[in-house]
Amino acid sequence: MNKSLILFLGVIALSCSSSNEDQNLGLITDNAMVVSARVEASAIGSAVMQQGGNAFDAMVSTELALAVAYPFAGNIGGGGFMVYRTNEGTYGGIDYREKAPMSAHRDMYLDQDGNVIPGMSTKGATAIGVPGTLAGLFEVHEKFGSLPIEQLIQPVVDLAERGVVVTQRDVNSFSYYRDDLVEANGENSLYTKEYKVGDTIKNLAFANTLKRVIKNGRDEFYKGETAKILSKFVMDKGGYITEGDLAAYEAVWRQPVVFNYKDIKIISMSPPSSGGVTMNQIFKMIEPYNIGQYEHNSLEAIQLFTEAARRAYADRNYFLGDPDFADIPLDVLLSDTYLKERFDNFSFDAATPSSEVSRGTIQVVESDETTHYSIVDQFGNGVSVTTTLNGGFGSKLFCEELGIFLNNEMDDFSSKVGVPNMFGLIGAQANAIEPQKRMLSSMTPSIVEKDNELYAVVGTPGGSTIITAVAQTILNLYEFNMGMQEAVNAKRFHHQWLPDEIILEATGYSDELKAALEAKGYSIRQGRTRIIGKVDAIKRLKDGRLEAGADPRGDDAAVGF
Ligand code: DON
Repeated sequence: MNKSLILFLGVIALSCSSSNEDQNLGLITDNAMVVSARVEASAIGSAVMQQGGNAFDAMVSTELALAVAYPFAGNIGGGGFMVYRTNEGTYGGIDYREKAPMSAHRDMYLDQDGNVIPGMSTKGATAIGVPGTLAGLFEVHEKFGSLPIEQLIQPVVDLAERGVVVTQRDVNSFSYYRDDLVEANGENSLYTKEYKVGDTIKNLAFANTLKRVIKNGRDEFYKGETAKILSKFVMDKGGYITEGDLAAYEAVWRQPVVFNYKDIKIISMSPPSSGGVTMNQIFKMIEPYNIGQYEHNSLEAIQLFTEAARRAYADRNYFLGDPDFADIPLDVLLSDTYLKERFDNFSFDAATPSSEVSRGTIQVVESDETTHYSIVDQFGNGVSVTTTLNGGFGSKLFCEELGIFLNNEMDDFSSKVGVPNMFGLIGAQANAIEPQKRMLSSMTPSIVEKDNELYAVVGTPGGSTIITAVAQTILNLYEFNMGMQEAVNAKRFHHQWLPDEIILEATGYSDELKAALEAKGYSIRQGRTRIIGKVDAIKRLKDGRLEAGADPRGDDAAVGF
């Protein structure tokens, strides 16, 4: 047995021995923890910290391990956002979101009559944005990392060579996407073979790609042999990513959105993600109402949250986009005066119809194809990361030679003003396609601070439902006094302005409550829904220990020490 395998098994054993019977209590550890979509990734991140690495080192390993253990969303062919808070109380964020290729233009997905060409921004090579993940990881490592990069990547090479055991949820997602995966890659591609629970999938090509990255660094992916292979693969398939596009890619450090809600401080991602701004608006609108005085998920609590979300989402689609390209009036959107006015017509008596809040049509399509992980290290640093290929397995295009899936993030742009994207979101000019621009995101990696100390690290996948899921998890902790796991388990609901309906998770809401909401004028959608987020979070307890919230809606797992 090699050394990393022994370490790996040791960490798994440690995590199992620390788990408990109470479904509402997460793993508790004294020092450090990773919570992610897969136990393999959490274990590798935790092991890095056990070797003396910090949360930023653990980020590099966890993110890469997710590309092996959770190829559905973990990636180096996509992008993401990270928000951090150091043990000194400083915070920041990094944007490693994909960019439009240089040849991109506003109407690239329209036919001669100006209609959106179905599938062109969602499937196959034409949907791919310039990947940002490795640029982000190297940038983070350079600024904050403490262990050598090979020590962070080698355990992932080992994992890719050793293989990952297929779970029932993996089987479900492979079979759900199988037709698309076969269409994109043929019958014999690594992820189109038929797998059953307990099989092991090794991704040897990815191990080789990572070995070259260890040797040549970031430039391997953006300027080296890997860049050549990747660009040729995408161009041969009819896409647009040139070697020049890869060479020009840079991750960007961004000032996060930071706001106070009562006596907590919330630090979340700024544009080109809409997450922080929209959550800030929601919290500020509800702040005067003391939502904690109502029962959790009671009529009043749901009304209050829903009305704030309705108004915040209406602003989201119109005003937000890549700040390097669009002027975003953040000072107005986040000002007390504006938000107070915006909520002036709220009443517990009746729903405010969305048609009276603004115009537009949006349909929600929920899914959970992104992935989030939270890390706190033994030094007290917190790291909150959401990363994505956009759809499940991204564009579905798998580059066999490199062992990676490629994103379909171009669909997060607004292909045509007024026409919804695959999440039903409609964009405006601020999110129109331009060369080298970043597409608007809903990803909301967040950190909460209380009494000048780290309080929680929170985030989730879920497309447009990400923002409401993160906000409700924070409210569950702070206003409804739940523990971390309990806050993650609690049933969630969602409203995003249009369509004008509240989505409720399939169970956990009484008929009386639904009838009461309908009597106030709310439309309810339940039954057809999948899940609203898959939250992976960490709470710092009063005594300094850490409690995990690993979402039971997926295979998510916490590992720590
Ligand atoms: O950046 C975004 O908002 C989307 N690409 C996130 C996609 C996502 O969460 C997929 N799962 N629902």
